[in-house]
Amino acid sequence: MKAVYLEQYGEPESLSVGERPTPEPAANEVRVKLHAASFNRVDLYMCSGGKGISHSLPLILGVDGAGVVDKLGSGVTQREQGERVVVYPAHYSEFSEFSRRGDQMLCTECKIPGEHIDGTYAEYICVPAVNAFPIGSELSFEAAATLPTAYLTAWRMVMTQAKLRSAETVLIHGIGGGVSTAALQFAKMIGARALVTSSSDVKLTRAAGLGADVCINYRDEDVVERVMQSTAGRGVDVVVENVGEATWPITLKSVIRGGRVVVCGATSGPHPSADLQRVFIRQLHIIGSTLGNHEEFRTLILAADRGEFSPVIDKTYDFEHAPEALTYLASGQQQGKLVLRIAD
Ligand SMILES: NC(=O)c1ccc[n+]([C@@H]2O[C@H](COP(=O)([O-])OP(=O)(O)OC[C@H]3O[C@@H](n4cnc5c(N)ncnc54)[C@H](OP(=O)(O)O)[C@@H]3O)[C@@H](O)[C@H]2O)c1
Repeated sequence: MKAVYLEQYGEPESLSVGERPTPEPAANEVRVKLHAASFNRVDLYMCSGGKGISHSLPLILGVDGAGVVDKLGSGVTQREQGERVVVYPAHYSEFSEFSRRGDQMLCTECKIPGEHIDGTYAEYICVPAVNAFPIGSELSFEAAATLPTAYLTAWRMVMTQAKLRSAETVLIHGIGGGVSTAALQFAKMIGARALVTSSSDVKLTRAAGLGADVCINYRDEDVVERVMQSTAGRGVDVVVENVGEATWPITLKSVIRGGRVVVCGATSGPHPSADLQRVFIRQLHIIGSTLGNHEEFRTLILAADRGEFSPVIDKTYDFEHAPEALTYLASGQQQGKLVLRIAD
């Protein structure tokens, strides 16, 4: 089968596009014929060595994918050939303490396609049948393929971890990013007020089109000053944080006393000053978040199926141009998601 895979670490241009063996489903697995996948920042991390993620090369990249169930492994009774599905982005042990309580992402045996094992930039992938979630006929494979990482992560951050409410205000850094764009869409679904930042006025204009209430260019403006002006000196109830070192001081100064900061990433570096005095005197709640559990994924798909939000797709690429997509992602020019079209 055709696949995009990593044979040697380096720039995205050195990714291989070629043939890999077609996988066969094991017991309790299904094989999915993928129609679309979507790119994530972690692909760049894997290209640069994937430090801390146990894996071996060659490795097919890609965490997110959607397609059609093509073959059933033995023992699979709950999925059918031909069913349209999107793939939950982690293989886990059903027997771990964490999975049993519904926190699949905390399972210590968790393996993520495209990181620990072969991923979705391929014509086929085999996944545990329980990870193949049906999607409605109205949802395109391209839209569905954006859900497993960026949209699921943002969903858990906004809905479950921050428990954002309609009367509240949220600050979302770097609105060009996939997670941030999704977080804005969910904040507006709830009816909350959203302040967003970006390096680009064009991206801010697009964010305003998605409902952003206050748009701040972090290159030209003092973000904390604008946040305080826009909230009558009060600060925001929630900050959606995925940028890290560059934004952490702004985050801690922008959030109201007793407010919530939800963190899922550290694009600009993972070691900001902790500023512990501010954390304890102001009694801030700092909440880590990664992807989401099965129930959150199910609810997210339902919301997408019902058209409660439409995933924002910046560009779509075909197989041969996958390395180009990752170079574009690395340049930070994208707004929302980049999608790989695998089959029509
Ligand atoms: N824990 C998890 O489960 C999980 C899941 C998904 C992603 N992540 C992590 O979350 C982060 C974001 O992921 P993504 O897919 O949304 O990445 P992305 O699409 O590549 O977005 C990155 C964005 O960060 C913004 N940014 C960079 N420097 C900034 C700064 N100094 N101030 C404000 N914004 C800045 C930029 O926004 P502008 O272009 O608007 O300036 C850029 O577009 C990554 O670190 C990723 O690894 C974690």
